[in-house]
Amino acid sequence: MAIVVVSTGRAIPPRRVTNEDLAALIDTSDEWIRSHTGIGARHIAADDVASSDLGYEAALNALQYALDQGLVAEKSLKSLIETIDLIVLGSSTQDYYSHPSTACIVQNKLGAVNAAAFDITEACSSFIFAFETARALLGAGNRRRALVIGAEVLSKITNWDERETCVLFGDGAGAVLLEQKEGGGGIIRSVLGSDGSGWEHLILRRGGSRNPWKKGEVVEQVPAIEMNGHAVYNFAVKVIIKTIKTMLDEEGIELHDLDLIIPHQANGRIIQAAGKRLNIPEEKFYTNMEEYANTSSASIPIALDECNRSGRIKRGDLVMTVGFGGGLSYGGNLIRW
Ligand code: UT7
Repeated sequence: MAIVVVSTGRAIPPRRVTNEDLAALIDTSDEWIRSHTGIGARHIAADDVASSDLGYEAALNALQYALDQGLVAEKSLKSLIETIDLIVLGSSTQDYYSHPSTACIVQNKLGAVNAAAFDITEACSSFIFAFETARALLGAGNRRRALVIGAEVLSKITNWDERETCVLFGDGAGAVLLEQKEGGGGIIRSVLGSDGSGWEHLILRRGGSRNPWKKGEVVEQVPAIEMNGHAVYNFAVKVIIKTIKTMLDEEGIELHDLDLIIPHQANGRIIQAAGKRLNIPEEKFYTNMEEYANTSSASIPIALDECNRSGRIKRGDLVMTVGFGGGLSYGGNLIRW
């Protein structure tokens, strides 16, 4: 049996904030942001939009695409939704602290009454971890279809006064419909890894059991992402190289067998540095951080959807995802599309 990608979708908030827009508010410039990151703009969700709203929209978009393209036998959205056995949602910005899971909120909005729904929280690596979790659960038993979603409203955990971090992030969501089918191909293997010694390099300190809110406390600053940019950068280059090499070696394939690599869209320089070390031509990597910035767990599924719909990825192509994030964590998936 194979676990194959049936369809993809995405949700991008309409409000587009350019580097120039940010330069009008804080001490930064389009030139600095582009030259240091490759980012040109980001999309920011409205105040009343949470991750589940974007995750729901992306999931619906993937399901509608499956119906429109005749990729499933079902003829109505309702009948298709009722076949979903699992919803696995990756996010660093869940709707609610601790519970309920954002996946449960999406399940309710969709009316996916037959799906078990849960979140994976592994920062920017969440989608890669969620994808492998769904693959393993579909492969293990009597489940046929899974929605894997990456959904973020990072704008709500960003310190908009801190130029070192606020220029990097954006909001959005992507979704993939997976199905268990007879035959080969689909998700071939994944690499998942963690290095907890770097737990403090990317962190949202407040709100958990280590630093709970205290009665009567006055909040001076919205809890926001804190980051050791250099440490994350060095880790990212190292683990991208390691993940790509591991997947190629374990599968016994060469770089030229890969049609496309979809990296986590954090920083173009990270991708260039890793690519240079592995002798991978730049065009082998798909990048879209110029338009969306770093959308954490949403960056890979948004890119997958763009490539799928534009024909950049075609049936039968060999596609690799690779990413890294807080934890610190890293991983990748190898997919015969
Ligand atoms: O999903 C994972 C999320 N995180 C990451 O992927 C982050 C990985 N790290 C990076 O991408 C890079 O380290 C950054 C983009 C965050 C920073 O790039 P850098 O080339 O390492 O710059 P830097 O931190 O060494 O800063 C260089 C200078 C500093 O000024 P001085 O001390 O040399 O005068 C910064 O204060 O650039 C300054 N700077 C800025 N200037 C204009 C930092 N941020 C900005 C900014 N605009 N937005």
